[in-house]
This record gives sequence, structure tokens and C-alpha cells, in this order.
Amino acid sequence: MNPIPPNITQKNQDHYNKRYATVSIAGIEKKLKNLEAFLADATTTDTSWVAMFRNGFKDQLHGKKVLELGCGDCTLSAVMAGLGAVVTANDIAEKSGEIIAKINTEKLTKTPITFIQGDFLNRQLPANSFDLVVGKAFVHHLTHEQEAAFYQKIAHILKPGGEVRFVEPAVNSKVLDALRWMVPVPGRPSSLQTDKFKTWKEKDPHPDRDNSSAHYQKMGLRYFQEVKVIPIGFIERFNRLFPKSKTNRAFRKKAYQWEAKFPSWVQRSFARAQTVIFRKPKE
Ligand SMILES: C[S@@+](CC[C@H](N)C(=O)[O-])C[C@H]1O[C@@H](n2cnc3c(N)ncnc32)[C@H](O)[C@@H]1O
Repeated sequence: MNPIPPNITQKNQDHYNKRYATVSIAGIEKKLKNLEAFLADATTTDTSWVAMFRNGFKDQLHGKKVLELGCGDCTLSAVMAGLGAVVTANDIAEKSGEIIAKINTEKLTKTPITFIQGDFLNRQLPANSFDLVVGKAFVHHLTHEQEAAFYQKIAHILKPGGEVRFVEPAVNSKVLDALRWMVPVPGRPSSLQTDKFKTWKEKDPHPDRDNSSAHYQKMGLRYFQEVKVIPIGFIERFNRLFPKSKTNRAFRKKAYQWEAKFPSWVQRSFARAQTVIFRKPKE
């Protein structure tokens, strides 16, 4: 039985194979050569990097066995390997495997990265294999059924003291979400342009699913004893008011500091994204 519905998986494969066809290895190499400078900027400015590296993540990596699911353009896998982790990466897109192969051929990381191509759920992996399992903008590409199957598998392969860390979009306010869809962004029409939006949606690689913090909390608790969801971005989301400028990056850095001063219910209600942490598998 293949637990992944072929339609959504195929859409992801097609969409991301196209997107990663132009990934520059030189760009990854430059980041690895200036790793500390890259991390100092990205982990204080770019939401997904801030959310992934918060709470001492960088210091957990050296010598650890790490699995990245949905490794995409492979920057995070390369960075973690650059920081001394022993990385295995998986993606449904074959292009991600080609990027990893180039990283390995050019010996850009301390240890080579292992790539698992395609359907991870069909792979037999021994129990207690990984210290860390991570995914950046990965789970929200799965249906609820796929998500459950992934969590069950991760609970099996995670070491007892290990940690799962996902960074995903947060949809905790229906009103904000409806407004967000109404504002067009490059490559995606407004939901008010009904016909254009329908055509766009047919190709979109995201399934219709719940991305609320409550959903991640509930699903995580089915397979893990400890679940923590940390919101981010309720002020940072206004960075679109200053597109592509120095002010934009300066605003984002400050925004994360301002957000931290607000009560947690405010941070959660209007969050743009969230770090989802699971520990202590139940099985
Ligand atoms: C939004 S991209 C994120 C990529 C990367 N983690 C990043 O932060 O840029 C989502 C990734 O998940 C991958 N993906 C989607 N469904 C998948 C599945 N069932 N198994 C493995 N990878 C999948 C896609 O191919 C894509 O590379």
C-alpha cells in the first residue's frame, strides 16, 4: 500500500523539480565558506531560519545524526553538515538528489550527505537511527493522512533522547488568512480573481489542510509525549510594506525582538509561522 496519494505527490515532484533545476551550487558553496556570517544574518532575519535555529539548535548539531525531510534546495542540509552533523536528506524531487550529489563531489561539507530519493514512507529504516529529524516548510505539503504516517515513522526512527523540529506556516486566524489570500503575490492571483485563482490552485503543490498551531499540537501528541509549538512572525509579516530593501531586513530583525514582548496568546493568534518540536516518542 502506498500511503501517499499520487496526485499531491506528483504535483510536488513536478513543481519542485522545475524550481530546483536552477539552484546554484556556487551559492551554497559561498554560504558554506562564510558559514558564521551567513548564519549570523539568516538566523536573525529570515523567518524559517530564525524559527529553525532558535533555542540553541546550532549547538545541538556537531556529531549528531540528522535527517532532513523535504530538503528542497539542500541549503539547510549543507549548512548542518558544514556545522559537523552527519546528514541524511530526503525529498520527492529528484533534482534535490542532483544538488546533494554535486555538494558531495565537490566535497563542500565535512562529511558527505546521504540522499534518500522519493517516498520516505516506503523505506525500511532501523529504530533509534537519528538524533534529530528536521523539516523546513515540509509538513504543510502533506495531507493529514501522510502527516500521520510520517509522524509514526519518525517516532520509530528517532533515538530516545532525540528531537523533531519542523518550521511550518501558521494559520491561527481565519480572518487574517482570508485577507492574505485576497492580496495577490508574484505568481499567485488574488482569491477574488475567481477563474485565475482556480487555475492557479489546480497546479499548487499544497493540499487543503489544517495548519493551525492546535492541529500540530494535537497530531504531535498522538505519537510523542512532549510537544511544543512556538509562534513567530506576527509583526514581521508586515515586512511586505518595505519590499527588497535594507530597511526590510532591519525591520525583520527588530520585529522578532518586539514580538517577544507581547503575551503568548497574541503571538500565537496572529503568527505567520511556527516552530513545532516533538520529543519522547510514545512507541
Ligand atoms: C516549500 S519546499 C521547502 C524546501 C526546503 N526545505 C526549504 O526550506 O527551502 C517543500 C519541499 O518538500 C518536498 N516534498 C513535498 N512532499 C514530499 C514528500 N511526500 N516526501 C518528500 N518530500 C516532499 C518538496 O519536493 C519540496 O522540496
